Amino acid sequence: MMRSLLFLAVLLVSLCSAQDGKDPLRNFCRIHSHQTTVVDRTLYINGGLVNWEPLSADAVNYTNTWFRAGDLDELNVGFPQQHVLTNNDSVPAVQGGILWPDASNKIIYLYGGEYNNGKPEEFRLWFYDIVYNTWNVSNASTTDVSRASWGAGVAVQDRALGYYYGGWLSETSVPDYQGNTPLKDMLVYDMLGNSFRNQSGPDDIPRAEGVMLYLPAGDGGILIYLGGLRGSDTNETMTSQSMTEILIYDIANNHWYTQKASGDRIPEARRRFCAGATWAEDRSSYNIYLYGGASVGEGAGFGDAWILSMPSFRWIKYYPEDDNNDPYPHHSLTCNVVDNAQMIVMGGSFPNHTMDCDVPTIYGQHGLDLGKANSEGAKWARFDPTLTTYKVPSEITTVVGGAATGGATVTSPEEGWAHQDLQVQFKRAYTPAARAATRAVPSPTGNSTASEESAKHRKAVIGGAVGGSIGGVLLLSAIGAFFVIRRNKKKDASKEGYDAAAAMPPKDNMDPAGPNGMSSPPPQYGWAPQTPISPYQTGFPEHYGENRTEPGPGQYHNAVELADTQMPANNEPVEKYGSEVPAPQEMPVNPR
Ligand SMILES: *[C@@H]1O[C@H](CO)[C@@H](O)[C@H](O)[C@H]1NC(C)=O
Ligand SMILES: *[C@@H]1O[C@H](CO)[C@@H](O)[C@H](O)[C@H]1NC(C)=O
Ligand SMILES: *[C@@H]1O[C@H](CO)[C@@H](O)[C@H](O)[C@H]1NC(C)=O
Ligand SMILES: *[C@@H]1O[C@H](CO)[C@@H](O)[C@H](O)[C@H]1NC(C)=O
Ligand SMILES: *[C@@H]1O[C@H](CO)[C@@H](O)[C@H](O)[C@H]1NC(C)=O
Ligand SMILES: *[C@@H]1O[C@H](CO)[C@@H](O)[C@H](O)[C@H]1NC(C)=O
Ligand SMILES: *[C@@H]1O[C@H](CO)[C@@H](O)[C@H](O)[C@H]1NC(C)=O
Ligand SMILES: *[C@@H]1O[C@H](CO)[C@@H](O)[C@H](O)[C@H]1NC(C)=O
Repeated sequence: MMRSLLFLAVLLVSLCSAQDGKDPLRNFCRIHSHQTTVVDRTLYINGGLVNWEPLSADAVNYTNTWFRAGDLDELNVGFPQQHVLTNNDSVPAVQGGILWPDASNKIIYLYGGEYNNGKPEEFRLWFYDIVYNTWNVSNASTTDVSRASWGAGVAVQDRALGYYYGGWLSETSVPDYQGNTPLKDMLVYDMLGNSFRNQSGPDDIPRAEGVMLYLPAGDGGILIYLGGLRGSDTNETMTSQSMTEILIYDIANNHWYTQKASGDRIPEARRRFCAGATWAEDRSSYNIYLYGGASVGEGAGFGDAWILSMPSFRWIKYYPEDDNNDPYPHHSLTCNVVDNAQMIVMGGSFPNHTMDCDVPTIYGQHGLDLGKANSEGAKWARFDPTLTTYKVPSEITTVVGGAATGGATVTSPEEGWAHQDLQVQFKRAYTPAARAATRAVPSPTGNSTASEESAKHRKAVIGGAVGGSIGGVLLLSAIGAFFVIRRNKKKDASKEGYDAAAAMPPKDNMDPAGPNGMSSPPPQYGWAPQTPISPYQTGFPEHYGENRTEPGPGQYHNAVELADTQMPANNEPVEKYGSEVPAPQEMPVNPR
């Protein structure tokens, strides 16, 4: 007994010390199963799991206890430079949760997710106050509200609502819970009323590990749910949600629909992918771009990008053009659309690649140019902070008609509308009103130009819902490799270099992420475990390795310095909000 306790203590110490002294940016190798969101011009990155370089020496998934911010206007090798914010150790470090931003009040709520280590605490709603750089606990009543994980969620800015549909309840997210239960309800958090409600989903079928997105269409906005796992009609087994079965929630009318999608090619069923939405200027098409994901059942997963164009409900393959999968399948990554035009795909777990880091110089960020607006007309490109308009790419216009600015001519699903009301809703462009802050929020410093800029960006954020799409595991390294190589080497990143792949060996139970660290589907739901694939293959693609160059030390030091200066003493508002700081406010009471 004593000996095993001692062993445990030693084990714990060694596990802890393995993270000691690690710098989340300097020692970055990979991040996955994390949560992200964008408020104003900052991308926030919270929780999830990290791997340290070199991966070959230590493949353990460590809890990401850091909270980071990427500045969209400060680029490092073509991607937002990230900075480490002060965190509060009491905030649970979870995976598979969601960040719901209140962009008007400069607040980010953290809901859901599972714990890597130890027992989950009772659910309390933590939120990050952007102005004061503090984490606070909301006094919202959480009676009968559990912490779910790997559901699908989104925040809707004009209504100040956070949505979370489906997901799992398990012992890693709910104290003293037994088993793994997939949910069929939708949890709604009212940010101004500071209250939760738990309403019914589209049907009695539980779902998890899919994605939900917001479109500014219809009477008051529309939520689109796709992918992931669903319960079976006949038994307790979870099966895949077909990618042709799209669930639609009409916010204003509180009504769910199911619409069939079609296409010459349809993406394979998947879970834990990520996605983002954008739309043509004239709203003749709303286009959801998805990337990657894990297989349902056996398979290494996906590294491909697809578009679901609506209201035609046509699937269109975006990347790679041919029928092949990308050679770097990955899942449990995040997608954030900026200004309707670009999507930052970040991190992911790469079951087929156990040795390589995910472009550490740019912390696993990859850029999908939704309208191919870069000078090369490429799909994957560096982030361009000045790009604010979305042009519908030829891949979409060849299927739905029209041109870059819209004018789609195919505006109904191939097999017709599931319900007449849906057609009506999709014809109505919805323009969400800007929502005023309900607490005193100082405006960012800067002269008038800067304020106009930020006002413009705020509008853009309000126009969409601020995502926080969680889900699948995406392997972005390949994409990073793609453009970095083309840029640096003028060498075609063709397939030849991408064949070598190594399998993820099965894990033993010494993994500090715990037996459920990977959220393997619970056995009673018939989840086929991720196939551990045969032995390592040699010959790691050389240009993949080329990306592993260390950034100049300056970049990291700057990051650290900036983090220090952003740490406000005594709850002073962070620097960028200037000196005219209102007195600290309590959370607003719902004015409605
Ligand atoms: C963490 O946040 C809580 C709630 O705001 C606060 O009471 C506590 O002092 C914070 N801890 C640290 C170390 O800042
Ligand atoms: C939360 O705190 C605010 C401000 O102190 C108060 O007005 C509100 O009634 C509280 N809400 C709950 C549910 O306790
Ligand atoms: C929503 O309500 C259902 C039915 O009471 C419950 O099973 C589920 O756990 C609730 N969801 C959350 C996230 O608490
Ligand atoms: C459960 O139902 C699904 C289809 O609904 C079927 O594919 C599967 O084989 C069934 N599993 C068992 C154990 O009966
Ligand atoms: C994953 O690796 C295995 C074994 O090397 C290989 O056969 C398979 O094609 C790879 N899958 C993908 C999607 O790259
Ligand atoms: C402020 O305005 C000046 C002159 O119009 C300009 O040169 C400067 O770049 C602006 N600064 C910021 C932060 O926008
Ligand atoms: C790390 O997490 C990923 C994704 O959850 C999982 O596939 C992998 O097995 C984990 N690695 C280790 C060493 O536990
Ligand atoms: C969060 O807590 C800090 C420190 O107590 C306080 O200054 C701030 O006003 C709080 N934020 C909200 C939104 O209540």
